Amino acid sequence: MSRSPAMNKVVLAFSGGLDTSVCVKYLQKNHNLDVITLTVDIGQGDDFKEIEKISSSLGSIDHIYVDAKEEFVNEYVVPAIKSNALYQQNYPLATAIARPLIAKKSVEIANKYNATSVAHGCTGKGNDQIRFDVTIKSLDPNLSIIAPIRDLNLSRDKEIDFAKENGIRISEISKKYSIDKNLWGRSIEGGILEDLDNEPLEDAFEYVKFNNNSVGTIELDFEKGIPVSLDGKMEKLPYLINKLNEIAGSFGIGIIDHIEDRVIGIKSREVYEAPAALILINAHKDLEKLTLTNHELRFKAIVEEQWSWLAYSGLWLDPLFSDLNQFIEKTQERVTGKIKIKMHNGYYRVIGRDSKFSLYNNNIATYLSNSTFDQTIAKGFVELWGLQSITANSVIARNNA
Ligand code: ARG
Repeated sequence: MSRSPAMNKVVLAFSGGLDTSVCVKYLQKNHNLDVITLTVDIGQGDDFKEIEKISSSLGSIDHIYVDAKEEFVNEYVVPAIKSNALYQQNYPLATAIARPLIAKKSVEIANKYNATSVAHGCTGKGNDQIRFDVTIKSLDPNLSIIAPIRDLNLSRDKEIDFAKENGIRISEISKKYSIDKNLWGRSIEGGILEDLDNEPLEDAFEYVKFNNNSVGTIELDFEKGIPVSLDGKMEKLPYLINKLNEIAGSFGIGIIDHIEDRVIGIKSREVYEAPAALILINAHKDLEKLTLTNHELRFKAIVEEQWSWLAYSGLWLDPLFSDLNQFIEKTQERVTGKIKIKMHNGYYRVIGRDSKFSLYNNNIATYLSNSTFDQTIAKGFVELWGLQSITANSVIARNNA
């Protein structure tokens, strides 16, 4: 190859898939850069040896593998659980919370290897470009950012052509769908799913099974908002999440199929599978209902909505995000206890809960005669509670008369 020596270096966040493989070639050819590929392990379960081989076959000067599973779970997934984070009530944000971590690792590696720029394979149509760019610039404003797919306005079919011309191998699955995966969930896009009327087929899913008619139950223990044990056995969280993806997935649980509003204004159809995330968030929510006051719950719901929006929209490093986290963290002090869940045919519900911080008091809740709740004190409260509504209605009636 006729590339001049002593080139500048770029660190490319590299998954080994179609987009980022195309990026390696483009960075070499059009930018005349030496490419260092970086693969961050956040539980995507890929063949990392194979990814390294792909990188070297594309002519990168170095390949770095970073195992960030623990960090991802402790610093990204745990806050998402504590925040019951579901964007637009549905999406557990697996991709969204992973990007700031990958961006952070890219900056670290770029600094370590004296690279002048960082590159990523995001298109100009999605949210990931925002998450990468804003995080990278927040951490190191001196790094320049190259996003080849966006810069070239490449479409997936064009990418496939480019890949063929440049001898880049394309996996069978990436001919059908565009997949993003980590411990917290998978996202499946493109192909037949772009027709909103097409139901996602079994071939789109890894965890979710379709032919299991049996019923299962599991028990989860939380400590200060963090899941710590599964069926009475203390487990490390990455393991617990993996296990739960398998178990809940085997009961058909975990598919999300919804219309999503991207930050840049496009409405898109998004299909996810996230069995563990759905079960853990819903179990956690239920435990909070038992242990937090109504006032805490109502305010926390507002904070959660804002948390999910900031995480989704790439503002992980905005000061507001850490402000919100401090509030969320404080609320978790009493979110300790046990949740029992029943699973059947893609459906799940909480069937039992228990906590030493439970605010449920059977002596006052019971409808039986042993109740210690004095009903007679309610009358005056109800009168005052309804005072303004009753007054407003009589004022409206008077004016309508
Ligand atoms: N819509 C989701 C998000 O913005 C998932 C996107 C996953 N796709 C991808 N190419 N990264 O977080």
